[in-house]
Amino acid sequence: MRKPFIAGNWKMYKTPAETGEFFQHLVPLIEKTKIDVAICPPFIAIETAITMAKGTLIGIGAQNVYWEEEGAYTGEVSPSMLVSIGCQYSIVGHSERRQLFGETNETVHKKVKALLKHRVTPIVCVGETLAEREKGSTNTVCETQIKQGLAGLTAKEAEGLVIAYEPIWAIGTGKTASAQEAGETIGYIRKVLGDLFGKAVADKIRIQYGGSVKPGNIKELMEQPDIDGALVGGASLKAEDFAAIVNYSE
Ligand code: PGA
Repeated sequence: MRKPFIAGNWKMYKTPAETGEFFQHLVPLIEKTKIDVAICPPFIAIETAITMAKGTLIGIGAQNVYWEEEGAYTGEVSPSMLVSIGCQYSIVGHSERRQLFGETNETVHKKVKALLKHRVTPIVCVGETLAEREKGSTNTVCETQIKQGLAGLTAKEAEGLVIAYEPIWAIGTGKTASAQEAGETIGYIRKVLGDLFGKAVADKIRIQYGGSVKPGNIKELMEQPDIDGALVGGASLKAEDFAAIVNYSE
């Protein structure tokens, strides 16, 4: 009932020229996919990605956004600017933004509201540090991030969200949460969403796993009943690897 959704987060990699080359490789490799697929390049390559993805089922997203419409906000990009070039998604609250650029649950909340107003789908990232996991507070950390980040949304608004559970200790480290661990935490996140918006809505929200997803581990992750897809960093930079992840069920 929930359509799987696999998205690539390119972080600060690839110029427009490299983006063009990537899509030339990727498009024929995932022609037959029946799942939702997106790529989130750096801002300067989004337009190239959109041009290259025209006529395919690949959606394009940003990695960040600001919540104001326009104004004196040096270095920022608004939701309506994303819409103006055909951007469908934006990642919000990635742990790198939380740790390096001062993103908080409060700014996540403002960004989610602003994106929904413009019908851009937020991909809201949550996840615990290694210290938090070792203390046994994974569930409470994710719960707080979800509750504060999504405070006051209507059930209708919540239905359109994508959540990405990304344990910080598994990002870019080669360490993946076991499929079972990831599935359990994602199950808990769905329960929290149910408390906030009702079970019927929580059952519609797609929750991705992220953190060292590779062609070799995607299948067992996707076998977990609550895992609806993946947010892929490093392995989304190579068309062959990303295609192998998208085509996990073949
Ligand atoms: P990774 O990154 O796949 O390189 O671990 C995932 C992410 O940060 O979204």
